[in-house]
Amino acid sequence: MPHTADSDRARDRIHALLVVCVLAVASLVIAFLGATPARVSATELLGETRTPGEAAFIASHRGGGASAPENTLPAIEAALAEGFDYVEVDVALTADGHAVLMHDATVDRTTDGHGPLSSLTLAEVRTLDAGSWFAPAYAGTPVPTLVEFLDLLAGTKHRALIELKGEWDAAAVGVAVGHLAGRDLDRRVAIASFDARTLARVAAASEVVSRMLILKHLPDDVVSAAAEAGVRGILVDRKAVLKRPEVVQAVHDAGVRIVVYTLNSDTQWDEVTALGVDGIVTDDPETLSAWQNSASGR
Ligand code: G3P
Ligand code: CA
Repeated sequence: MPHTADSDRARDRIHALLVVCVLAVASLVIAFLGATPARVSATELLGETRTPGEAAFIASHRGGGASAPENTLPAIEAALAEGFDYVEVDVALTADGHAVLMHDATVDRTTDGHGPLSSLTLAEVRTLDAGSWFAPAYAGTPVPTLVEFLDLLAGTKHRALIELKGEWDAAAVGVAVGHLAGRDLDRRVAIASFDARTLARVAAASEVVSRMLILKHLPDDVVSAAAEAGVRGILVDRKAVLKRPEVVQAVHDAGVRIVVYTLNSDTQWDEVTALGVDGIVTDDPETLSAWQNSASGR
C-alpha cells in the first residue's frame, strides 16, 4: 500500500482514539474502586486467629446484663466504660417496623408490659419500664432503639456484635444497614443471626458489613456452611464446640473466626481457651478479663 499523508492522518486518528478509550476505561475502573470500599476482613473486625491457650476477645453479652438490665443503655454504657472490646446486643422489630433492643419475643420478662414485641408499636414500647425488673435503681429505663445504641457506639472506639432476632425482610435490613453506614460503623460492627435468609439480605444490602452465623448445633460440614453464608465468623454454643473441638482448627484454616457463647465460669473459659477460640461471649466480662490476666501471668 502506498504511503500517503492521508494514511498517516488516519493512523494518527486511530491511535488518538485508542488512547482516549484506554484513559476512559482506566478512569471508570478508578472511579469504581474508589466508590466501593473493601469488605471488612475477618482480621480487621475480629483479630488474628487465636492459638490454643491464647486469650480470646471478650464480648459483653446482651450489652452487659450482669451489671444493669440487659439490652439497655445503662448496661451498654457500663460495658463500654469497662473497656471491653465488643458488646453483643439483641435487636428485634416492633409492630410498626422499628428496631429496638430486646432479646425475648415477648416484652414480659424484661419490662413491665405484656405480649409479643411484634404486636406493639414503637410508641407503645417506649412507655414500658425496662429497668424495674432488674433493680429499683433502674426504674423507668426505656427499651432503647437501635439508633440510640448506634449513636452511643459511634461516640466510642468499641465494636459490636449485633444479633438480629428472628427473620428480617429486605426493607428492615436495608434500614438497619443504612443506620450503620450513616455513622461510619460498618467497619466495626458484625451483624449476626441464626437466620441464613436474614444474613443473605444483609449481604445484598451492603458489600462492606461483616456477618456472623449463629449456630446452636454444628452442621456436619461447618466450613461449607460458613462459606455458603459468606460469613467472617461463626458464633457457636459452648456445648456444640466441646463436642467437636476439631472444628476450631478447621474454621481457622478456612480464614473464619469462631466465637463461643455464653460462658460464665473459669472452668468454661479454660476449656475453650485451650481450644484456641477467637472470642468468648459472657455475662461477666470483668471476671473473665481478670481471669485472662491472671492466666497470662502463670
Ligand atoms: O451471641 C449469641 C448469643 O447471644 C445467642 O444467645 O439467646 O443470648 O441471644 P442469646
Ligand atoms: Ca444474642
